[in-house]
Amino acid sequence: MQAGARAMAAHRARTSGAGSGTEPYFGQGVALYVQDISVAFDGFKALNALTLTIGVGELRCIIGPNGAGKTTMMDCITGKTRPDSGRIYFGSNIDLLRLTEPEIAQAGVGRKFQKPTVYEPLDVFENLELALKADRSVRAALRHRLTPAQRDRIDEVLALIHLQHEAQRTAGLLSHGQKQWLEIGMLLMQDPKLLLLDEPVAGMTDEETERTAELFLSLEGRHSLVVVEHDMGFVGLLTQGRKKVTVLHEGSVLAEGLLSEVQADEKVVEVYLGR
Ligand SMILES: Nc1ncnc2c1ncn2[C@@H]1O[C@H](COP(=O)(O)OP(=O)(O)OP(=O)(O)O)[C@@H](O)[C@H]1O
Ligand SMILES: [Mg+2]
Repeated sequence: MQAGARAMAAHRARTSGAGSGTEPYFGQGVALYVQDISVAFDGFKALNALTLTIGVGELRCIIGPNGAGKTTMMDCITGKTRPDSGRIYFGSNIDLLRLTEPEIAQAGVGRKFQKPTVYEPLDVFENLELALKADRSVRAALRHRLTPAQRDRIDEVLALIHLQHEAQRTAGLLSHGQKQWLEIGMLLMQDPKLLLLDEPVAGMTDEETERTAELFLSLEGRHSLVVVEHDMGFVGLLTQGRKKVTVLHEGSVLAEGLLSEVQADEKVVEVYLGR
């Protein structure tokens, strides 16, 4: 077994039983450890000795003003941008800075960009089917027959993303919110250990935003989630008054605590919430 697979197996052993999202995740291991990373673009420090730990199964919201470095942090975790210094560990011993972008995805890090990228001419089911067989060409993937287990997994994900009645609908005809859920569903087909979601509810209606919060809460525990959002109503739904949020500012952590605590923090009000 390769080192990565061994680490994942160890993680699975440690985290089994943490499926419902209601059990505490602290003390069950570290899903992601970002240590002291810095990135400069033309001398401007987008990330400045950023340090952050995400627990296995944890749902962590990250907030902060425009330009704080939130997206750059995700770029570093997924291998799109290489930090100038620092370390990033996935689980206890996978050094993400030694892996390429596809290897990081393969190791179990899924990322949702702001704009949905679904295959518009295909239907919802086919989009999920393609995501399951990401290693094949579109035509080969759709010709290849699904195993009963794969079919079950697609049905399970369709239910999770509330699209079971839209399975045969052309993806291009879905609402903006439904496209976002489909893309999250496509990420879920690979069963990532860690999901990074950058402004997932931007452009959604209030009802879609609430449904997205329910979806993320149902994923907590089985997956670790890092959610970047400006919508404090949504962050409130996700944190339920008891989860920690992290405030980023000028490339490092400005504050960390319950949403109510950081909302009352003068430094945070000054740079972000008081605007
Ligand atoms: N590829 C790049 N080249 C040059 N500068 C960049 C690059 N990527 C990001 N930056 C700069 O780094 C800083 C951090 O940007 P980043 O996109 O990470 O912020 P953010 O916290 O995601 O902001 P927002 O809330 O607006 O999405 C910004 O000043 C941005 O202009
Ligand atoms: Mg951003």
